[in-house]
Amino acid sequence: MSYPYQINSFEEYQQAYKKSIEQPEEFWASVAEHFTWRKKWDKVLNWNFTEPTIEWFKGAKLNITENCIDRHLEKLGDKPALIWEPNNPEERVRIVTYNRLHKRVCQVAQMLKNNGVKKGDRVCIYMGMVPELAYAVLGCARIGAIHSVVFGGFSAQSISDRLEDAKAEFIITCDGAYRGEKTIPLKSVIDDALIGNKTVKRIIVFTRTRTPVSMLKGRDVWWEDEMDYAEEQVEKNGVVSFEPEIMDAEDPLFILYTSGSTGKPKGVVHTTAGYMLFTNYSFVNIFNYKQGQIHFCTADIGWVTGHSYIVYGPLSAGATSVMFEGIPTYPDAGRFWDIIDKHKINILYTAPTAIRSLMGFGTKPLENKNLSSLQVLGSVGEPINEEAWHWYDEHVGKKRCPIVDTWWQTETAGILISNFAGITPSKPGWATLPMPGVQPILVDENGNEVLPKENETIAGNLCIKAPWPGIIRTTYGDHERCRTNYFATYQNLYFSGDGALKDKDGNYRITGRVDDVLNISGHRIGTAEVENAINMHVGVVESAVVGYPHAIKGQGIYAFVIVSSKHSDDELTRKDILQTVTRVIGAIAKPDKIQFVAGLPKTRSGKIMRRILRKIAEGEVENLGDTTTLLDPNIVDEIKNGRI
Ligand code: WT7
Repeated sequence: MSYPYQINSFEEYQQAYKKSIEQPEEFWASVAEHFTWRKKWDKVLNWNFTEPTIEWFKGAKLNITENCIDRHLEKLGDKPALIWEPNNPEERVRIVTYNRLHKRVCQVAQMLKNNGVKKGDRVCIYMGMVPELAYAVLGCARIGAIHSVVFGGFSAQSISDRLEDAKAEFIITCDGAYRGEKTIPLKSVIDDALIGNKTVKRIIVFTRTRTPVSMLKGRDVWWEDEMDYAEEQVEKNGVVSFEPEIMDAEDPLFILYTSGSTGKPKGVVHTTAGYMLFTNYSFVNIFNYKQGQIHFCTADIGWVTGHSYIVYGPLSAGATSVMFEGIPTYPDAGRFWDIIDKHKINILYTAPTAIRSLMGFGTKPLENKNLSSLQVLGSVGEPINEEAWHWYDEHVGKKRCPIVDTWWQTETAGILISNFAGITPSKPGWATLPMPGVQPILVDENGNEVLPKENETIAGNLCIKAPWPGIIRTTYGDHERCRTNYFATYQNLYFSGDGALKDKDGNYRITGRVDDVLNISGHRIGTAEVENAINMHVGVVESAVVGYPHAIKGQGIYAFVIVSSKHSDDELTRKDILQTVTRVIGAIAKPDKIQFVAGLPKTRSGKIMRRILRKIAEGEVENLGDTTTLLDPNIVDEIKNGRI
């Protein structure tokens, strides 16, 4: 079964696109008609990009969980909302029907209320990929609390910074999380994060791994106890209910921290109605989702992909969404294919880095796996190289599944540029055409639109001209930071930080970041962040971090480091630095290469010439461009010679 706003042909796409640009308010209102509102909007869109102020569906009242759960109960109550595949394939699968999801989310909402959480409060969620994570997210949304999910790979220091920035008083966590062979002691990391913290009042701990944990009286409580108690409150005579908090369209739904080119990660804020509409509309149309299909997004809910395409997009569409606790290579490199076979997955949405790492195991792990249920494949997180695209097409999709290459960002909430599965043409390596409602524009350094001469492919910095419903509204606690980061580089444009090409047919190819942001295995990390972490090591005088092409991760981290003379044991210092970065940010930010240098190439004004370092890291040592403006041009030769 399809959706009233489902696009079924290229012509329909063109019509929808045209309408969305010419009459954006009518266009999005006609989509919004198909959702559950407690009160309809007064105005579809108010905006200016100077402050910025962006308001979608102002005056409307709703609760997103009513749209993700309650409204489906009559027809889909017994249908699976979530299928949970555990880390260990021997362990029991959990199938959560919409009825069961409703009950659990009502219980979590009640549990949060019992623990003093109110509308607008920030709840930090630091859990592994267990169904309870989805319940926690939705439970917050049900009472109007703002969730801030922190990926389980971040360090205590990173959590501490995020807790402080969000002034969070509540945490939901697990004793531990399973990831392949490893058990990660989540509660213990939280305990470290809370040393010196005075704002957190309550921690709710879900038992997953039975890892011993410290439980402080008056502060820490067990999820299981609290949920049992809440169950008695929400279930009366077999009827489950918890009245959802009625939210304004523009009330914040969540904060998600992401890295930029400067400073600490910023809390991207998404609001209720626009986010819901955009994730739903993009999910249904880009994957060409039909009711009853089984959708498997392999991301972690700690990242935006999990928020939008495991939880909110699919559930608001009444879909069946698969949640996988483990990793693609455990117990072996055939795990994804086993899951597809076992659950008869129809849509697989994963990252190029996962495809490349599985490619490394050859096609043997695919033998005897029945992948015939697959209908659509998706890619997200970084540009997909042609080799990976063709492997995905040939060995996974067996040349019969369209591949959607979906370009978007934490700040955009949902997919902005992508082909539509089986509906609009694909082009390997190209994200292709914009979603309805999205108006990309390529500009040069001065913000002037790059215009094609006849039939020419053009290149420029990728900006968007007008708001779509999922656009970032603010950065938590610091609106000015939102303005300067995204809306001040080019006047009246949202700047993505990416560079792109556009061909004569209007297709876009994303070429990568044009700022100092790295994309490591699809994870976003700022070079400044890594430098700050490295510089915290006692022996480090100064450092400069750049990215370089990495066969599996897409980009690797290359650090040029000046250490003081006392620290002369290179190997030990290298390990100490890695340990420091792991402590400060998390293992995902560990440099792949550390080169000790005597100096860094700087201009006379003291600015590090990253362009030169990037070239050296990329192995392009011959053609370094103009080095005459350097303070000490000799340093370049020295760095070149010491290249790792
Ligand atoms: C950055 C956003 C989008 C959710 C996951 C990452 C890069 C993302 C693609 C793609 C080329 C892509 C961009 C973007 N990116 N998808 N299909 N093709 N590049 O979210 O952490 O906010 O990172 O990921 O550089 O700016 P994120």
